[in-house]
Amino acid sequence: MSTFEPKIMAFLCNWCSYVAADAAGVSRFTQQANVRVVRVFCSGMVDPSYVVKALASGADGVLVAGCFPGDCHYIAGNIKALRRAPLLGRLLAELGVEKERFRLEWIAASDSGPYARIMNELVDTIRKLGPYKKPRPGVVPLVRSGHAEAGEAVSGGAAGKN
Ligand code: FES
Repeated sequence: MSTFEPKIMAFLCNWCSYVAADAAGVSRFTQQANVRVVRVFCSGMVDPSYVVKALASGADGVLVAGCFPGDCHYIAGNIKALRRAPLLGRLLAELGVEKERFRLEWIAASDSGPYARIMNELVDTIRKLGPYKKPRPGVVPLVRSGHAEAGEAVSGGAAGKN
């Protein structure tokens, strides 16, 4: 029997999903103890390089959660996150990373139940996938500091800015 316990890095928006996570704890919803939360001010500030770095630093899966479209406290940060997601998916595919290891969700402050369900689902999915394996030799993303778009992070990639 496998003893693998995945590590999940969750970037949670301060105004919604972080509140839902807090409420899920207060409400004593059953949650697996595999999640490391990073509180961010908006899902739009989660640069794709953060996801790549999280995986490279030991996470087996990454969740980015923000306010529902139309509810972002910075107007369109979550729309930026939504637009980056397909680019990030392509980057991860280039690196040989299974698409199930990254998830973008909208979780309102009142959604403590859905938050617990989503996190438990993600942990179960990653547990079935197994540990994250570093990219095959020769595939090295150019991850730089700052706010690079996913397409810029692929060495020689065809994807452009959105
Ligand atoms: S403030 Fe929550 S996603 Fe932008």
